[in-house]
Amino acid sequence: MTLRQLLTTDAVSLCKIQDAAFGSAWSAADLAALIDAPSGFGFIAMAGDDAAAFILCRQIIDEAEILVLATRPESQRKGLGARLLTAAANQARQSVHTLFLEVAADNAPALSLYAKTGFVVAGRREKYYTRPNGAEDAIVLRLDLNRPGAPAYGHLRGHGLEPPVGSN
Ligand SMILES: CC(C)(COP(=O)(O)OP(=O)(O)OC[C@H]1O[C@@H](n2cnc3c(N)ncnc32)[C@H](O)[C@@H]1OP(=O)(O)O)[C@@H](O)C(=O)NCCC(=O)NCCS
Repeated sequence: MTLRQLLTTDAVSLCKIQDAAFGSAWSAADLAALIDAPSGFGFIAMAGDDAAAFILCRQIIDEAEILVLATRPESQRKGLGARLLTAAANQARQSVHTLFLEVAADNAPALSLYAKTGFVVAGRREKYYTRPNGAEDAIVLRLDLNRPGAPAYGHLRGHGLEPPVGSN
């Protein structure tokens, strides 16, 4: 499995991964525009000619945010999500200090991955995601890219989600 930078020509492959992983997707045109924008960056994991997983981020002034992280179901639990997060954190660190994301409060696999990677809770947006029977909160997570133990140091801490120092 190899990782490389996202290209606009990956957009259709990214849609297929998203559809398989989430059951919904940004359009190929939206994804291509995000990749093409000066603020956009990300990585794709390839098994030969097949795209297995990707991460798409954007930089906004002095912060970066993860817009999408998805691994095809048959390629999950093989470390791709963690590798992509590490690659994105390494790139973001070159220009910003903090990486943010939003994740649904009921997305246990993703919450586990982010906790292992060193993200901490930065906030909560109530009833942010639509669900068939109502709505689910979004948890806002933050990774301090300059903290020892952040992914550049290749260390997955394995702790639970912790509130940042000084928060309630
Ligand atoms: C979340 C997601 C990207 C993880 O991708 P992945 O390639 O399987 O991730 P990894 O193999 O690197 O997993 C790393 C850790 O994440 C956690 N994890 C991943 N899948 C999990 C699952 N199904 N159940 C519980 N924990 C899980 C585990 O802690 C895992 O470590 P372990 O395998 O040593 O136990 C993938 O499950 C996915 O695409 N889900 C649907 C889309 C999504 O929810 N994206 C995130 C939105 S914010």
